[in-house]
Amino acid sequence: MDPLISAALQARENAYAPFSKFKVGAAVEDGTGRIHSGCNVENATYGLTVCAERVAIFKAISEGARGFRRVAVVADTETLTPPCGACRQILWEFCGDIEIVLANLSGNSETLRLGELFPRPFDSSFV
Ligand code: THU
Repeated sequence: MDPLISAALQARENAYAPFSKFKVGAAVEDGTGRIHSGCNVENATYGLTVCAERVAIFKAISEGARGFRRVAVVADTETLTPPCGACRQILWEFCGDIEIVLANLSGNSETLRLGELFPRPFDSSFV
């Protein structure tokens, strides 16, 4: 199996999702090939919940990682789960038009690019 998907699957096991029960795992491969993973972390206020994708990317950034090549997102859904709008904005900031691998627990996966999911982004070229 693709090691990026394995890392996201493994991270999903740590999801803290007592409110939605919807567990998500994500993993990002940096410019050196190192993999950084994350899971969703919910909060009783709901609004402070952080998605798996943002946990993975913020962990990676805070450790000095850059030059991301690919990101994987794993959830237990038949229709593969794409990153939410907020995560698309954050991924664009740090990864640009990165390759995104969506996968589920049945072994289905699909690879697409962030530019397809997030056309005409607002980014640092405007400010
Ligand atoms: N969630 C993610 O972690 N990533 C996604 O791509 C979609 C949604 C989380 C947030 C929340 O904990 C739960 O899934 C339900 O929305």
